[in-house]
Amino acid sequence: MPHLHLESFNPLTFPTTRGEVEFLFQADYKNPDEGSLIATRYKGREFFLVCKNGPKKLLKSDKVTRPSPNFILKHAMLAYAECSNATIIDSNVDNAPENTHLKTHDALKTISYFADNFPTEREVRIEIGFGSARHLLHQAAANPDILFIGLEIHKPSIEQALKQIVIQNLNNIMILDYDARLFLEFVPSNIVGKIYVHFPVPWDKKPHRRVISEAFLKESERVLKVGGTLELRTDSENYYRFALETFSSPRQSRFDVRKNQDIAIVSKYEDRWKKMEKNIYDVTFTCEVESPEPDETMTFAFTASNIVSDTIDALSKETYKREWGFIHVERLYDINENDRLIRLAMGSFDRPESTYVIIENGHPRYYPDLPVRSSANLKAHILLDELLHG
Ligand SMILES: C[S@@+](CC[C@H](N)C(=O)[O-])C[C@H]1O[C@@H](n2cnc3c(N)ncnc32)[C@H](O)[C@@H]1O
Repeated sequence: MPHLHLESFNPLTFPTTRGEVEFLFQADYKNPDEGSLIATRYKGREFFLVCKNGPKKLLKSDKVTRPSPNFILKHAMLAYAECSNATIIDSNVDNAPENTHLKTHDALKTISYFADNFPTEREVRIEIGFGSARHLLHQAAANPDILFIGLEIHKPSIEQALKQIVIQNLNNIMILDYDARLFLEFVPSNIVGKIYVHFPVPWDKKPHRRVISEAFLKESERVLKVGGTLELRTDSENYYRFALETFSSPRQSRFDVRKNQDIAIVSKYEDRWKKMEKNIYDVTFTCEVESPEPDETMTFAFTASNIVSDTIDALSKETYKREWGFIHVERLYDINENDRLIRLAMGSFDRPESTYVIIENGHPRYYPDLPVRSSANLKAHILLDELLHG
């Protein structure tokens, strides 16, 4: 993580600029040793630098708003040191120019990419937990007109897949590091041809962590087009029985089951199970209904009435739990006499999100960006709006 240790430090007045870097305002935590946040704008991004007091001052990045690539952060930190006439005692920051070879990989997307503007021009197929990516790469090469979205939470597998996408020159795969249990809610209705769930982790001791669930199946039925399929392939008899039970609960679509069926490409796991002569089960769910689009009328807008400082103070360090998730107010900062900043964690228990809210003259707004448009975040927003307005 890039950082600088500084001494002989002159406080800045805000706003101020150094070259192309703008320092917009500072937010102070009540304990000055815990550090201040410096709102910074550079190359079209807004983010916080954290400035911590101590025998020497430490300047580092803020985890929540950290910009990418790292070059932006490093450049902003060096600009801040110059601007405050500080002496750099030690640092792990170099002043190298932007490295155009290290640009983020085109195929690697963030959840915001899908939440803000889901690609709908061509048929979509989704592979969940692609592991070695053999199946995903094979399918993408064989179906160049179809967009494949691969979900994985294991970083080395993601890196491996990204390398292969370049080597094989494939331009119809998008990779996402996100929990598959929460992804389908961002997908429009009736556009997915296939969802592959091949050899999911069986989670025999923690069944709530399984990808397949009643809620997942309901969302699959919504996003699949008529005739589209959800394909579960597993060597786990336990998981197979659990899936049968889940797929059997009343709904309008149908499913069928096969045992030891060969498919065109065999994954590393399948190779291993076949050598051990284990049974392999396929449970295929076929969608037979057209679904309405989900309700998109909810927004992250706050009620337009003034918030008083006492109400904000009352939220400090509280956790508000509901069945869909929670809000936890982590820290309150002062920007000036009128303006405050709140750092909070919110959303689903499985994938909480950290975010900031600025209250300027009694009016709140998320900073620097809106939270991801998940249903849990939208519910958390409504709760926050209620809490802020007492
Ligand atoms: C047993 S491996 C199977 C990999 C591959 N499908 C195959 O057949 O070789 C299961 C994969 O699912 C991924 N995984 C587990 N839970 C996940 C989740 N909630 N969302 C996305 N991927 C997940 C794991 O990281 C792991 O790579």
